[in-house]
Amino acid sequence: MSNNIKVYDTVESLAKSFTAYLIELLSKKKHGEKLTIALSGGSTPKAIFEYMARHAAEKINWEQVLLFWGDERCVPPDDPESNFKMTKDILLDSIQFPDTNVFRIQGELPVEEAANRYSQRVLENVPEAGGSPQFDLVLLGLGDDGHTASIFPDQIDLYDNSNLFVPAKNPYSGQERVSATGRVIDNANSVVFLVTGGAKTTVLSEIIHKKGDWQKHPASKVSVSKGNLSWYVDSAAGAGLK
Ligand code: 6PG
Repeated sequence: MSNNIKVYDTVESLAKSFTAYLIELLSKKKHGEKLTIALSGGSTPKAIFEYMARHAAEKINWEQVLLFWGDERCVPPDDPESNFKMTKDILLDSIQFPDTNVFRIQGELPVEEAANRYSQRVLENVPEAGGSPQFDLVLLGLGDDGHTASIFPDQIDLYDNSNLFVPAKNPYSGQERVSATGRVIDNANSVVFLVTGGAKTTVLSEIIHKKGDWQKHPASKVSVSKGNLSWYVDSAAGAGLK
């Protein structure tokens, strides 16, 4: 799998380019067909969602989009830590996104129940290919420790778990999480890593150049089987890629 790496001088230009990519994916859908997207959480997507809310609200037929999440913190949907709340506050409420197209992870439930329920919900609402749900697009972030979704280095084996979504834990805070596994991520038609900021320079360079502790980084395990893998990176995070 070759890495398709796009480096941008500013987060704004990264957001603009990613938004154009999303519009391009939508344009390829037949009339009435829905685009299924699994969003990432954390702070990086905020700038992308803010850009979309400001510049693409009218350019995208949001009825055509079904929104899911690749991971969620085990907190209520109105908790400041919630990835759903972040997305709702920054994007969904600004574009009147149809509630019926939102499939959030129920972080308020016990983690096992939340993971099992979401696995079932994704199975019921995302087209299948090769025995697993096949998202049109999975967005991923990258932690400076190499985690992605909510699969952290100390639980790297979760990536190969046979379930679609699993209970996980942030080892630094002890916060319980629900995370997609490689069975979901690697089956997507398109996987896009969004990586910004100087804190990610070293870990990104290790992953792309396969050096240092790259094999200990969960993000290194992403290997999209048939789809494509792209990295949307700002110049700060990409400083080590030359
Ligand atoms: C989450 C994310 C997580 C995130 C990385 C990067 O729920 O926190 O899904 O995988 O993408 O931790 O986070 P930042 O974008 O905040 O650096």
